[in-house]
Amino acid sequence: MKAIVYDRYGPPEVLRYADVERPSPKAGEVLVRVRTASLNFGDRAAMRGEPHAIRLVMGLRRPRANVLGRAVAGTVEAVGPGVTGFKPGEDVFGEVNQRGFAEYTVAKEKHLAAKPVEVSFAQAATLPVAANTALQGIRLGGVGAGTRLLVNGASGGVGTFAVQIAKALGAHVTATCGARNAELVRSIGADAVVDYTTRLSDLFDVVFDLRGDKPLAAMRQVLAPKGMYISSFGGGGNLLGPMPRLIGMMVKAPFVSQRLRPLVATPKGDELAELGAMVAAGTLSPVIEEERPLSEAAAAIRHIEQHHAIGKFVLSVGK
Ligand SMILES: NC(=O)c1ccc[n+]([C@@H]2O[C@H](COP(=O)([O-])OP(=O)(O)OC[C@H]3O[C@@H](n4cnc5c(N)ncnc54)[C@H](OP(=O)(O)O)[C@@H]3O)[C@@H](O)[C@H]2O)c1
Repeated sequence: MKAIVYDRYGPPEVLRYADVERPSPKAGEVLVRVRTASLNFGDRAAMRGEPHAIRLVMGLRRPRANVLGRAVAGTVEAVGPGVTGFKPGEDVFGEVNQRGFAEYTVAKEKHLAAKPVEVSFAQAATLPVAANTALQGIRLGGVGAGTRLLVNGASGGVGTFAVQIAKALGAHVTATCGARNAELVRSIGADAVVDYTTRLSDLFDVVFDLRGDKPLAAMRQVLAPKGMYISSFGGGGNLLGPMPRLIGMMVKAPFVSQRLRPLVATPKGDELAELGAMVAAGTLSPVIEEERPLSEAAAAIRHIEQHHAIGKFVLSVGK
């Protein structure tokens, strides 16, 4: 089968569209014939092996998984022993632990959800990772009717979902983004849009930080005394990424009235089912910047690295 293969860390040039062996499902796993996949910030990190600290998990000298990709939608081809929730022929979407940018991939049953017929394969592939992270952040913050929420980094994959989910819950959403994306962010429901080059001035109950571009002290200044700051960003230095900042935040947390929380989102099939239902109902509308064939994954990642993502970028894999 064809897949996006890499055997060393580096820029998009390390990626090859090549043949690899088709995987087979073990107990509790589902073999999915992939129709679409979506790019996530984490794919770039996995490709480059940056920050270097992630190599402790992903492979010290070279990537342990030689196929990139985490978010997929497709059709069940076969199921492993013990799988009861899905059967061959059903359309599904979900998160895989790498190896998603391929014609076939294996997913844990509990990380998949059934794809509603109203939801396209392209839309479904945008939900794992990005919308899951948005939903988990919104829930961690207890965002609901009347919550004054700041989404810092609203034009990317996670941010475009966070704005819409919070609006659906009745929150008052302020969103930061660059000038070129202001209209888009307003169109998906943000009540107020702030250019990320200007200073924030309002007070928020919850700050959902997807960028980490401003000092924690500056974020705490716009956070209500009992408000919650949720950090959910990569970036940072080449070696440790956001770790030093997260450690600083955890050290400070017990001594301040505001709640300072890191978010590490986890894949959950039942949450994906909720998100799929929201898309089917029209409450959530994935923002898809572009769709390209799987063979152009390297060019797609290069595009996102150079021009920055707007919503989600989808790879079409097969019919
Ligand atoms: N905690 C978790 O489990 C988890 C899971 C997934 C993702 N994440 C994190 O969430 C973050 C966002 O991921 P993503 O996939 O949404 O990223 P993304 O799609 O690559 O987001 C890119 C967007 O961010 C905008 N942006 C750049 N600098 C900004 C700034 N200073 N202020 C506000 N917006 C800015 C860009 O706009 P311009 O073109 O104007 O620059 C672009 O539209 C990443 O840091 C990622 O590591 C965390």
